[in-house]
Amino acid sequence: MSAFNRRNFLSKAGNFSLAAVAASIAQPVWSRNLHSAIEKAQTLPPAALAGDEAFWYYVQQAYTTSSGIINLNNGGVAPSPKSVQEAMKRYHDISNEAPSYYMWRIVDQGREPLRNSLAKLAGADAEEIAIHRNASEALETVIFGLDLKAGDEVVLTKQDYPNMINAWKQREERDKIKLVWINLDLPSEDTDYITRQYTNAFTAKTKVVHVTHIINWNGQILPVRKIADAAHARGIEVLVDGAHSFAHFSFTIPQLGADYFGTSLHKWLSACIGSGLLYVKKDKIKNLYPLFGAPDTQRDNIRKFENTGTRPFFIEQAIHKAIEFHEMIGAERKEARLHYLKNYWMQKVQTLPGVKLGTSLNKEFGCAIGLVAVDGRKPAELDNFLMTNYKIHTVGIEWENIKGVRITPNVYTTTKNLDVLVEGITAFVKKGAF
Ligand SMILES: Cc1ncc(COP(=O)(O)O)c(C=O)c1O
Repeated sequence: MSAFNRRNFLSKAGNFSLAAVAASIAQPVWSRNLHSAIEKAQTLPPAALAGDEAFWYYVQQAYTTSSGIINLNNGGVAPSPKSVQEAMKRYHDISNEAPSYYMWRIVDQGREPLRNSLAKLAGADAEEIAIHRNASEALETVIFGLDLKAGDEVVLTKQDYPNMINAWKQREERDKIKLVWINLDLPSEDTDYITRQYTNAFTAKTKVVHVTHIINWNGQILPVRKIADAAHARGIEVLVDGAHSFAHFSFTIPQLGADYFGTSLHKWLSACIGSGLLYVKKDKIKNLYPLFGAPDTQRDNIRKFENTGTRPFFIEQAIHKAIEFHEMIGAERKEARLHYLKNYWMQKVQTLPGVKLGTSLNKEFGCAIGLVAVDGRKPAELDNFLMTNYKIHTVGIEWENIKGVRITPNVYTTTKNLDVLVEGITAFVKKGAF
């Protein structure tokens, strides 16, 4: 190497290493730590990593969650990691520089790439994915958009989500369709029993079955594919409420056999609050009316479901970062950890006197969400006791035949947090008559 070339090379190498050092300093400590923890975890199977507190501590550092209260109601809505919050704020700030220019012409340029990323995550075609603001918007688009006439029957359960129940009731009142109700006895590990409840309700007039993938009240996972196959064999369309399942455990939407699927992205994907997704099977798009009118040219186009007017594109675009974070942790690792956390606390309280678990410990029938009840005590009593004495935030459930306190950890929850929960439930039981 000539002296000139050597000097040139050394100065380039110097620039390179300086740039690398500068980049690593610019990256916050939590992010560097998490990155190296993930690198080290590459060779470990998800189940082995599920109980590795050191690893999950680094994940926790990616969040800004309160250390003043222990939030065990991630089933309601989940917090976003820092990277998602920061992206949302950046997009919001830039939008306000000149909204009609930056928001519509710049920020919204990310919509098609986002559709592609969401489609990959869902295992679906991008032309089947619409971006919505929550699961209610997605599911009500289908409920109000299906071409149903008086006398057509829809099968649903008393354990479905109230917004969806109310939407169907509104259609019943306005269009005189008939709602056929199932009352599920949960928790259940009997796939045949659950499937039979649906198939027994099918008649020649059934046009749609509404299936909730995870029952929000107790975290029960339903055998959607079996129900969908039985429905399709009779020419019945399948609407799946996946508000709680998407990015919670691994599946693809086509695997479920759903014709329509709606989900929140602010639950298990940890996207910003106010984000959701609608999936419509390609051949079903044409005959489904959009909730907000669309031009004729969009009849066959999934984008016809996105004419919702001016909306917070800064929230929508931050979904990109939530997908990145989800993929960085890894869907399988996340699922294994969530299941581990649920079983961790449930196994510790299940033998306490009077305690009844309202959720299966089996992976096929439950994941992160767990319900616990104490004989002779109201769910609200335990819920209040945990907040008053331990600053644990949960939710008391009394809905139809389901009663208990719902506990929902997330990837940032530590087993230390759950030890406090176990202590709280134990103290509550001791305080009672048992
Ligand atoms: C089963 C189920 N469906 C639908 C919804 C509605 O979700 P969103 O608040 O995103 O509209 C929820 C919310 O908790 C739910 O649990």
